[in-house]
Amino acid sequence: MSVLKVVVNGARGKMGQTVVDFVEHHSKLQLAGQVDLGDDLGAVIQQGSADVVVDFTRPEIRMDTVKTILFSGAAAVVGTTGFTPEDLETIRGWVKETGNGCFIAPNFIVGNVLMQQFAKQAARYYEYAEIIEYHHENKVDFPSGTAVKTAELMAEEREKFNVGTNDQVANVEGSRGGDFAGIKLHAVRMPGFVASQEVILGDKGQYMTIRHDSIERTSYMPGVLMACEHITANAELVYGLEHIL
Ligand SMILES: NC(=O)c1ccc[n+]([C@@H]2O[C@H](COP(=O)([O-])OP(=O)(O)OC[C@H]3O[C@@H](n4cnc5c(N)ncnc54)[C@H](O)[C@@H]3O)[C@@H](O)[C@H]2O)c1
Repeated sequence: MSVLKVVVNGARGKMGQTVVDFVEHHSKLQLAGQVDLGDDLGAVIQQGSADVVVDFTRPEIRMDTVKTILFSGAAAVVGTTGFTPEDLETIRGWVKETGNGCFIAPNFIVGNVLMQQFAKQAARYYEYAEIIEYHHENKVDFPSGTAVKTAELMAEEREKFNVGTNDQVANVEGSRGGDFAGIKLHAVRMPGFVASQEVILGDKGQYMTIRHDSIERTSYMPGVLMACEHITANAELVYGLEHIL
């Protein structure tokens, strides 16, 4: 069994610490270095002969980070957010030039990505749909990126949702939630939740609930491992975990 040498970038961060702990305890992985603000990522990659770098750092430095990783001789698994379609085109060129693969995923939780795919599939058959997402009280934005992405995928399958609702009298403004292509979005914020989401789809005489709960950061690790294994074997650009599920 070949062991992958992994450098963790952003190793002192919340996700980075989880990745370090995961790599240290996994028989298929070996920790080849830890990097955080002020360290020389390229040098650590070369000293550790890293196969892959797992990066959870800051959106502002995303492109510098990917460039350094690929041109230092390693593949990249990137959880840092903020990549644009133009960024991806540039990275595609770097992958071709260096022969090192790059796997970027806005969400590394397998169950979360499956929930989105299931909701997309179900949207074809249900005329009514609402999404409720639940997060801890410190999350600043609402609704979550996952809720919006889920609604986008569902809207690819059906032009209009909830056309039969009779929303005429608002006793409290906003109570029906936000609206994306007719899908109602609701955001709950309170301590106790980490990241949960429920997609409720309804039609006459039935409703269906698709729910996913993430209760700690370890839930990202199976997806990170799958991405490391895939991208060290395939020198390509992959955007989104759904492409390897
Ligand atoms: N894709 C996913 O599934 C997923 C999941 C969780 C978080 N994220 C994203 O990952 C990123 C990190 O999240 P977090 O919660 O761990 O944040 P965090 O703030 O806890 O950690 C970020 C770490 O990056 C370090 N850092 C900053 N600049 C650096 C640099 N130039 N070089 C090396 N390290 C540097 C910081 O010192 C810190 O230790 C964010 O963009 C977040 O949105 C993605």
